[in-house]
Amino acid sequence: MKMQKTAYRGRIFYFRDASTFKTIPISKEIDKGFLEHSYCHFEDGVLIVDEQGKVANVGQYADMKKHLEGSQLVDYKSCLITPGFIDTHNHAAQSAIVAAYGEKLLEWLNNYVFPAESKYKNDTHAKNDLNFFIDLMLKNGTTTAVCYGPLFYAASNIFFEELQKRNMRFITGNTIMDDNSPDYLKLPTKENYDIAKKLIHKWHNKHRLSFCITPRFGLACSEEMLEMCGSLAKEYPDAYIQTHLGENTHEITAIKQRFPWSKHYLDVYDHYGLVTDRAVFGHGIHLTELELEVLKAKKSILAHCPTSNNFLGSGLFNFKRTSQYTNRITLGTDWGAGNTMSMLRVMDDAYKVAMLSGFKLPSMLRWYLATLGAARALHIDDKVGNFEKGKEADFTVIDPNATPILKYRNNQVDDIFELLFIIMSLADDRNIVATYIMGKPVYTNQAPVRGYYTSNLMAESFSGSIEQAANAEIK
Ligand code: GUN
Ligand code: ZN
Repeated sequence: MKMQKTAYRGRIFYFRDASTFKTIPISKEIDKGFLEHSYCHFEDGVLIVDEQGKVANVGQYADMKKHLEGSQLVDYKSCLITPGFIDTHNHAAQSAIVAAYGEKLLEWLNNYVFPAESKYKNDTHAKNDLNFFIDLMLKNGTTTAVCYGPLFYAASNIFFEELQKRNMRFITGNTIMDDNSPDYLKLPTKENYDIAKKLIHKWHNKHRLSFCITPRFGLACSEEMLEMCGSLAKEYPDAYIQTHLGENTHEITAIKQRFPWSKHYLDVYDHYGLVTDRAVFGHGIHLTELELEVLKAKKSILAHCPTSNNFLGSGLFNFKRTSQYTNRITLGTDWGAGNTMSMLRVMDDAYKVAMLSGFKLPSMLRWYLATLGAARALHIDDKVGNFEKGKEADFTVIDPNATPILKYRNNQVDDIFELLFIIMSLADDRNIVATYIMGKPVYTNQAPVRGYYTSNLMAESFSGSIEQAANAEIK
């Protein structure tokens, strides 16, 4: 089969490389005054992906004819084509305890999470469950995540293998813990070091994968373990770091008792060299001014996880206050504690949580945080996050007419501000039509209209599945 470019036609939206946290328009009224928009919106647009799975061109369909000659054409009609979502905080080994009743963080971990995570000692369970987890992400339009992997080597290795099979851009590592946890989960420092090192050598910076040093949180790690994580971070300065911070008030009290020398919670991590511009801290709901100053100075990332925070009753993240210190805020499902894998549902919860503290979170900003903003915070915006030429074509297709109320509301909106707002307020995985990784379909729930572009468009209807279509002989 001759390889060729593929052109995806539909409504296209993404943020430009030039846009920043500060330049995202707050409302359509303000946007009218912008000479250079911080986003691109092509109502009848086309995204052309080259043979290597990278963006070759993007623009208004009517202006792109000369680039389309010879391309295979996939017509998504009135669907929205947008960069794949980036979930900056989730747990691969927690699908079995999603929606566990009645506990706040520390009891929830002991009663539900730790027993579930121990099951990953069984490789068959690990493989099935991790595939379920990855497929659910793709079904929700998420193409990249920063993710807590299983604790054990074999399961972690399986996870990387399954991610690599789908060619995902993904950041993960074995979850590390040795204290305040059941004996069956405690792995000694040396063993954790060896696991991490083996995984780094096998997977870090290979394909589209990156390793993340993952101490669970200060309460579950001995000082020796935190020190080991700090030395790993020094040894591999381009590896990421992730942990939890300031999620729950009882957790914070226990941290103070456990590390009496620390100035504050973040100081514990800082002491061991774990606060860097490649560190992603989950939650950060209850932070002091001093902690926010340190986060700002070190350019670390804060993953806001409103759905999880509501589910566990952890508290209300103050977006307005936090953003006065740092613009390196991203969004996460915190799957496991978060009871949805949909970043759209998370964007909705971020809005509601901000409203509860009297702050009208700018609508479009949430779309930015889940796409280009996250890519930028993670230093991968030269590769993903938008559709600028040469970027890797990871994208998702959203049908705003797939569910009755969204279809009803969609009939009444006439600009991209409102359209994005109603999608964030009303859409979920039922609206995700397809998800693509480097131009290859990895999830689809309906076959699009396929054809081949010639000077006068011959779009012929294709009645098979998208995989069949992708493999079909080009005539
Ligand atoms: N703190 C330490 N471990 C966890 C976890 O697995 N989930 C959440 N939400 N918080 C944590
Ligand atoms: Zn978490």
